[in-house]
Amino acid sequence: MRRAGDVFGRRGGHRLSWGLRGLLKRLSVAVIVLLICSISLFTTFKGNRPVIRSENQIGIDDLWATAASGGWRPSSAPRSDWPPPPNESNGYLCVRCNGGLNQQRTAICNAVLAARIMNATLVLPELDANAYWHDNSGFRGIYDVEHFVKSLRYDVQIVESLPEIHTNGKTKKMKAYQLRPPRDAPVSWYTTVALENMKEHGAIYLTPFSHRLEEEIDNPEYQRLRCRVNYHALRFKPQIMKLSNTIVSKLRSQGHFMSIHLRFEMDMLSFAGCFDIFTPAEQKILKKYRKENFAEKKLVYNERRAIGKCPLTPEEVGLILRAMGFDNSTRIFLAAVGPASELAENTRGPLGSAVDYMVCLLSDIFLPTYDGPSNFANNVMGHRLYYGFRTTIQPDRKALAPIFINREKGQTADFEEAVRRVMFNTKFGGPHKRVRPESFYTNSWPECFCQMSPKNPADKCPPENVVEVLSSRFQSEETDELEGMKSSNWTDS
Ligand SMILES: *[C@@H]1O[C@H](CO)[C@@H](O)[C@H](O)[C@H]1NC(C)=O
Ligand SMILES: *[C@@H]1O[C@H](CO)[C@@H](O)[C@H](O)[C@H]1NC(C)=O
Ligand SMILES: *[C@@H]1O[C@H](CO)[C@@H](O)[C@H](O)[C@H]1NC(C)=O
Ligand SMILES: *[C@@H]1O[C@H](CO)[C@@H](O)[C@H](O)[C@H]1NC(C)=O
Repeated sequence: MRRAGDVFGRRGGHRLSWGLRGLLKRLSVAVIVLLICSISLFTTFKGNRPVIRSENQIGIDDLWATAASGGWRPSSAPRSDWPPPPNESNGYLCVRCNGGLNQQRTAICNAVLAARIMNATLVLPELDANAYWHDNSGFRGIYDVEHFVKSLRYDVQIVESLPEIHTNGKTKKMKAYQLRPPRDAPVSWYTTVALENMKEHGAIYLTPFSHRLEEEIDNPEYQRLRCRVNYHALRFKPQIMKLSNTIVSKLRSQGHFMSIHLRFEMDMLSFAGCFDIFTPAEQKILKKYRKENFAEKKLVYNERRAIGKCPLTPEEVGLILRAMGFDNSTRIFLAAVGPASELAENTRGPLGSAVDYMVCLLSDIFLPTYDGPSNFANNVMGHRLYYGFRTTIQPDRKALAPIFINREKGQTADFEEAVRRVMFNTKFGGPHKRVRPESFYTNSWPECFCQMSPKNPADKCPPENVVEVLSSRFQSEETDELEGMKSSNWTDS
């Protein structure tokens, strides 16, 4: 049971009963068993599998490489006048980022932007101690704080904590005035309500702070600041990077590898109302879990899968991969599968989540099985796009559902052909227009990308001398990330 209640407005009920634990364990085991079964199916069917490429001339060999860039490269340096933060700040901005690791990541980007908009000094964002994991590691336990502050020094002033104030010979910690921002608050809320309170009280504390700044802001410099935070300033702590690199090198040592984010987890299944594939007894547990943890909503359960609302099952993932032509030598890293035992609870949590994030980011192919309110998959997809259009296989679950349902009814004749038709008609991670409900954090094109010879002048990459000027601003002396970005063609990590 991981990342429960990321965005679902979970109401209490953190502790699972033993019955639930039992189901969870069985779910996790089912995931692994099903996946092994499906993968071993590769063997059985390999002999008479038709050669693909009938569709769109895309073969799986192409998928191991990055998607076509169309001349675009990631760039989040400012392209117009972007003065450093003013000496006189309007006050202190404190935020509490709620939710799981990935929801918090988005909130941190929003906090930096909000501070910039308000000319405020940002107090290092508070990360909700994840009630589920009883985790207290906070920002410092997960991210490299020095790198964060340094990378953003020309964008916002950041301090570790509120200053102490001295009155009547006494020293007290400054107190921040608490405010609850509206969901997806517009920029104007920050320059009016929030700013007035900040000026009055000296400091404001915004809580909760996930999804509290609108995502579509018609100011590309603001959007680029979000990318600077997300893709440059936020770096996991060295031990997380080291562990992730070890895993990646092991997997890479034999060639390509794919990462799959299986969101076949109890919170997801009960949230989405995907009960049909379970036994009546199991359905009862899932329904009870749903009732206890999520706001009531009328769902027609037997329609959920047909309309693409359910995460793919491990078996479906195996069938898709086989139909696409991946064989049994494919190396797969499974993210987010962990038996929900007490041991797993103690050893994983945000740090395990961070390692999953890095390995999925660096894999040659990423396949999410659910891209609804799963911030993990959305953030990773956005990061992979920025990280050089790395291939993402994003199954169109709605188009696949009738094919799977027909197969279960016994119509297997054109099954693989039908799956291929859908799969090779999906996007594989190249630059593409953002269409609602796709989030800026999933697709930062075109704001955070540029072209050397653009049709639209606004897309032009900052000229070399500007990059040089910026390099003195953004780049730390030893790690030249922007520099790397400028020259690399992103064929490897
Ligand atoms: C993979 O498939 C090949 C050919 O289909 C078969 O010979 C081999 O034993 C399989 N390997 C495994 C580990 O299943
Ligand atoms: C801001 O502060 C720095 C150092 O304290 C100083 O050199 C600079 O002149 C100040 N700028 C303004 C506009 O006051
Ligand atoms: C922030 O400072 C800039 C100058 O650096 C100024 O143009 C802008 O109006 C200020 N915004 C607010 C909200 O104070
Ligand atoms: C990308 O870089 C690799 C090695 O650095 C090189 O072999 C390859 O030709 C480059 N590809 C392009 C399209 O520039």
